[in-house]
Amino acid sequence: MGDANIKDIVREKYASAATRATTGGSSCCGASASCGGPDPISSNLYDAAQAGQIPEEALLASLGCGNPAALAKLNAGETVLDLGSGGGIDVLLSARRVGPTGKAYGLDMTDEMLALANENKRKSGLENVEFLKGEIEKIPLPDSSVDVVISNCVINLSSDKAAVLREAFRVLKPGGRFAVSDVVTRGEMPPEIRKNVLLWVGCIAGALEESEYRGSLATAGFSNIDIEPTRVYKVEDAREFLCGQGLDVDAIAPQIDGKFFSAFVRGVKPSIPNPAAASSAVTEDAMPPHYNVLFLCTGNSARSIMAESILNGKRNPSFTAFSAGSMPSGSVRAEALHQLQVANLPTAPARSKSWNEFASPDAPKMDFVFTVCDQAAREPCPYWPGQPITAHWGVPDPASVTGTPAEIECAYRDAFLTLNRRIGLFLSLPLAGLDSLTVKSEVDRIGHE
Ligand SMILES: C[S@@+](CC[C@H](N)C(=O)[O-])C[C@H]1O[C@@H](n2cnc3c(N)ncnc32)[C@H](O)[C@@H]1O
Repeated sequence: MGDANIKDIVREKYASAATRATTGGSSCCGASASCGGPDPISSNLYDAAQAGQIPEEALLASLGCGNPAALAKLNAGETVLDLGSGGGIDVLLSARRVGPTGKAYGLDMTDEMLALANENKRKSGLENVEFLKGEIEKIPLPDSSVDVVISNCVINLSSDKAAVLREAFRVLKPGGRFAVSDVVTRGEMPPEIRKNVLLWVGCIAGALEESEYRGSLATAGFSNIDIEPTRVYKVEDAREFLCGQGLDVDAIAPQIDGKFFSAFVRGVKPSIPNPAAASSAVTEDAMPPHYNVLFLCTGNSARSIMAESILNGKRNPSFTAFSAGSMPSGSVRAEALHQLQVANLPTAPARSKSWNEFASPDAPKMDFVFTVCDQAAREPCPYWPGQPITAHWGVPDPASVTGTPAEIECAYRDAFLTLNRRIGLFLSLPLAGLDSLTVKSEVDRIGHE
C-alpha cells in the first residue's frame, strides 16, 4: 500500500470517528473496536482530576493509548505541540499545565477532527490553544520553536516514521523534550501474527519494534532515549478479533503475550554545545559519521552470523556489519539461518570466514569489534589487535545445547533475541556526540544487558 493510500485510509477512519463523537456515539479506537465492552487500548487513560479540567466531549472523543500530558514534564510558560491531536484532549490538558504564559498547539490532517477540537477548545474557554491543519511528516512550525512534543497513538499510523521524528527534532528547541505515547512491539515474530495484532490495535502503517524505535530516535538526533511500557496487551484482549481472522488463538498466544504494548517514549534534543568544545571534539576525538562493525566469535557459524545479519537488516545507513571467526568452522548453522528467515532478515551472503580476511591492507577498516562468544563458559574468544573500539558481548553458544529440537530452537532464539536487543541499544547511542571513552564504556555496558 502506498503512502498516499495509507494517509487516505487514516483520514477517512478518523473523519468517521470525529463524526461519531460529534453525533454522540462512542469514538472507539483501532480495529479492535468491537465497540461493545471497554476498549483495552483507549479506555481509562485519564483520571477524574484530568477529566474535570476539560469538556466531557473532549474526553469522549479520546482515541489515544496513553496519557502523555500527564507523563511529560511540562512547565509554566512552555510551548507544547501535540502530533495528531484528534479531538484535542491532550492539547487542552497541556494548555492548563503550561498556563496562560505558555501555548499548546495541536496538529491534525483531518478536517472533521479539527472541527471537533476547535469546538472543544471553545467549550473549555482556553485561549492559549491553537489547532493547526497539516501533516506530522511536515510540521507547519519553524525550527526550534517548541519546548515539548507530545503525541498519543499517532506515530504508529505514519508510513514515514523517520520523517515524523526528523520533523519533531527540527521544531524542538535545543534541550527540548520528545514525550509521546505510542504502540510498540518487542522482538521478532512471524509476520502474519504481527500483521493481525497490529490490525487489531489499529496501527494501519505498523508499529515500530522497540530497538528500531530507539535507533530511529537516535538517527533523528535525540539523546536520553527511553521506552517505558505503560499498558502491555495479552492475547485475551484480542481474542475475538484474532479468531475472526481465522487464527488459532491458543496456539499463537506465546508469540503475542507481552510483545505488544503501549509505551511512553522519550528523548531529548541535545543542547548546542559551546563552539569551543564542539570544535575541539571535532578535531580530536569525534566519532566518524559511518561505522564498520565486526562481530567475532570462534567458528563464525551462528552467533556472529546472526549479529551481522541483524545489524545489516536494520538498514541504518550509518552502519555496515561484518562477521568472522578466529577458527572458522567453514559452514553456517541451519538453525541460525532459520532464526534469520523467521525474522525476515537477510541470510545471504552468510559465509563462515576467517578474521584474516579483515587483516589485509585493502580490507574495510573496522570502527567497532564485538566478540559474541561466551567467556563466562570458558570458551576461547579471539583478541582483535588495533584501534577499533572493542567490547565483549558474550552470548551462550546455542550450538553447544543438546536436547529436543524445541530445546535447541529455543537456544538459538535466545541468542538471537539477546543480540537483537544489544544491537538495538547500540543503534540508540548518539555516537556523533560522544567521545570515544564514553562510547567504549557504553558498548561495554551493552554487553551486560
Ligand atoms: C488515534 S487518533 C489519536 C487522537 C488523539 N491524539 C487522542 O489521543 O485522542 C489519530 C489522530 O491522528 C491524526 N493523524 C493520523 N495520521 C496523521 C498524519 N500523518 N498527519 C496529521 N495527523 C494525522 C488523525 O486524523 C487522528 O485525529
